[in-house]
Amino acid sequence: MPATVFEIADKYTYLNGFGSYHESEALPGTLPVGMNSPQKPAYGLYVEKFSGTAFTAPRHENHQSWLYRILPAAAHRAWEPVPAGEYSSNSLSGVDVQQVPNQLRWDPFDFDLSVDWVRGLHLVAEAGDPVMKSGLAIFVFAAGKDMNDHEAFYSADGDMLIVPQHGVLDITTEFGRILLRANEICVIPRGVRYRVSLPDGPVRGYICELYQAHFQLPELGPIGSNGLANARDFQTPTAHYTNDKSTWKVISKFNKRLFQMTQHHTPFDVVGWHGNYYPYKYDLGRFNTMGSISFDHPDPSIFTVLTGPSNEAGTAIADFVIFPPRWLVQEDTFRPPWYHRNTMSEFMGLIAGGYDAKTGGGFRPAGASLHNIMSAHGPDAASHQAASEAELHPQKVGSGSMAFMFESSLMIGVTSWGLKHCQKVQEEYNEESWEPLVSHFNESAVMQKLNENE
Ligand SMILES: [Fe+2]
Repeated sequence: MPATVFEIADKYTYLNGFGSYHESEALPGTLPVGMNSPQKPAYGLYVEKFSGTAFTAPRHENHQSWLYRILPAAAHRAWEPVPAGEYSSNSLSGVDVQQVPNQLRWDPFDFDLSVDWVRGLHLVAEAGDPVMKSGLAIFVFAAGKDMNDHEAFYSADGDMLIVPQHGVLDITTEFGRILLRANEICVIPRGVRYRVSLPDGPVRGYICELYQAHFQLPELGPIGSNGLANARDFQTPTAHYTNDKSTWKVISKFNKRLFQMTQHHTPFDVVGWHGNYYPYKYDLGRFNTMGSISFDHPDPSIFTVLTGPSNEAGTAIADFVIFPPRWLVQEDTFRPPWYHRNTMSEFMGLIAGGYDAKTGGGFRPAGASLHNIMSAHGPDAASHQAASEAELHPQKVGSGSMAFMFESSLMIGVTSWGLKHCQKVQEEYNEESWEPLVSHFNESAVMQKLNENE
């Protein structure tokens, strides 16, 4: 009988702490004491340094790890482009990206039972360029098959923040194993090799790939030293290795093109590691949500889980923001988001439930929306009317729900897959949401009242 997801989950062990310097060994005595690269490493292992920032990056931004493995990653045949046609059903290339000011909303993206993780990646939107290590990409994924037994994948383009909407991902990485369920996220940093299998059937979700810098916790400012996503709740896998000398295929996403090579050993042969550049996961249910306890709707930045900074202070290439279940208690306040035009772009998705600024079921789990730079949006007409007339008691919103946003300072372009081929764009989104808004401004009545007051 196959193991249940809960039985599998018991087999995973993690180290706690965001950005901590961790060390882990699957065999005692693997890690050298007091040095990194001894002449004769323990157990005949090879030493490999794995950097996530320039060697000379400032100390507080410096990311690197040391791996102690059975064979180094360099032992492999030449890279070759993946043959045309093998990935013909998916869209990784961003050459056809278009920037449009329309408000966009998508119906739920389909499951695809016929493909694995790599073939299930669809590039929806992008800004920037992995060649220049600038910008970000947004994917949806939908897969129904395990990756082949002897196949691994990595992206040289950036750090992937994976947001499952449905299903369970069993992710074997060079650093250890991660079990990822809906309402959790994980970050696989640039270059980390991994294999995805699906112990509980089909999976679907979203990915933000950060071409530039790395995700970090937002500053807390006057909030103080705790709150939002707490550092201790981030989990990093412990070392786990196999001694497998069979032939493996490794696939690389390298400037949005796929390359492959073979090697005669598993990539998952790291017996021990230490450092601060590693994959990690986080349970969104642990987010300590903050909000207004007096009046007005705060900026959604109060809900930032992780931020990928640009070179401009306080301005993100990608903020990952969530809208968890929470209490609204503000007095004399229009409680949903205000109408707004934002210098940032907002890509939203829904993991489960509903979202309090939209009614009518147009924004559904596994769907998405994009409100680009300066594209006007806000509550739809029905939500505005309801919130304007509601009696303002303390109110719990979002129970059983989790919406999220990838917010970027960059103008987001949409691929032809996202605009056309996925066939999920709602043509009537704008008309249905905001054209029904009516004016309540009665100028003659206003003038009469002003005259009476003179
Ligand atoms: Fe917005």
